[in-house]
Amino acid sequence: MRLSRRLPWSSPENPLARLQTQQRATGVPLLDLTVANPTTVGLVYPADDLAAALAPAGLTHYRPAALGLFVARAAVAADHARRGVSASPDCVAITASSSESYSLLFKMLCDPGDVVLVPQPSYPLFDHLAALDGLQPRPYRLFFDGQWHIDSSSLDPAGARVLVVVNPNNPTGSFISAADLQALGDLARRHDLSLIVDEVFADYPGVVGLDAVRTVAACPPPGVVTFVLGGLSKGSGLPQLKLGWLTAFGPDKPVRHALGALELVSDAYLSAATPVQLGLPRLLELGAGIRSQIAARVARNRAALATRILPSAPCTLLPAEGGWSAIVRVPQTLSDEDWACRLLVDDGVLVQPGYFFDLSLGATLVVSLLTDPATFDEGCARLVARIVAMS
Ligand SMILES: Cc1ncc(COP(=O)(O)O)c(C=O)c1O
Repeated sequence: MRLSRRLPWSSPENPLARLQTQQRATGVPLLDLTVANPTTVGLVYPADDLAAALAPAGLTHYRPAALGLFVARAAVAADHARRGVSASPDCVAITASSSESYSLLFKMLCDPGDVVLVPQPSYPLFDHLAALDGLQPRPYRLFFDGQWHIDSSSLDPAGARVLVVVNPNNPTGSFISAADLQALGDLARRHDLSLIVDEVFADYPGVVGLDAVRTVAACPPPGVVTFVLGGLSKGSGLPQLKLGWLTAFGPDKPVRHALGALELVSDAYLSAATPVQLGLPRLLELGAGIRSQIAARVARNRAALATRILPSAPCTLLPAEGGWSAIVRVPQTLSDEDWACRLLVDDGVLVQPGYFFDLSLGATLVVSLLTDPATFDEGCARLVARIVAMS
């Protein structure tokens, strides 16, 4: 059977994945510092309240609405208001996830073969999401000089229709600076680009730098159609409910035009389930309790890791303004992949090498701050001990 050329369907397994399979087969438990699924890290979920929130009316009645049921769109608008952002429910579209939000927007905004400008380093799924819609992801670089900035010389808008911003970015945890946002707005106006701003982690700020833009939703660049993405998956720690959203900001006429077109695309799928949409106001209330557990976990683990890495240690913890990840810079005596393999085989600790996210800061390892504290502490102790022992 001939498959589409959208993806390399059988890319070779990377050495870390191969070793992981071998390690798991031995039955020796691993200390997994890569878990990004909040439902598996010992948080307390209000199971009965969540079940009650899934509106029973939605189990027996189906009222399809391409951009989502009004009650859900209004709940998202109210959630924006919680963060001081004014948005009309009419400018909100409900989707089944942020990944689906990207895909619907790509279909609506781009032709096959068009370019999508994506940040690098960042969330590795962009390459696949773009390719699955027949688009070419073209990276623009972020560089680190104590803070993360956009390398404007790496922004090449030729053939591009869309520019993606992740705020705060994953895994760098950096919020975009006001100056960088202004430069992107200028570029978007000059080249008629739409912005897609992924703010799924915006509810997890640590200490945000003075110049950082806390949410683009609060100050979208003037004259540019900007779609801001959010969802239950990260903001409420409820990925299992499969509900995301996008909110359009910008000049009235093109925004209305875009939402009309988006309605046509979404009508072909009608993905989001009715009970979750009807239950969204209550789910967002319950999500606040899960969010605060996640925020406390992330802060606790970051502080624990920072304490463990002494100033004299041959590795450093990169500062971050938000998100769920920490980046540890390690000696370049080994590649980041070799460090990760070594930790897995010799110490039973699973981390992600920085190259998974296209980090190019020498050798770096990425750990998930969601990890349950006991696993996190023991895993980080072994990680630091290994680096000290080999330096
Ligand atoms: C930056 C970013 N956006 C989107 C997602 C996926 O969100 P969803 O579960 O809503 O598709 C992730 C998941 O890790 C992510 O890191």
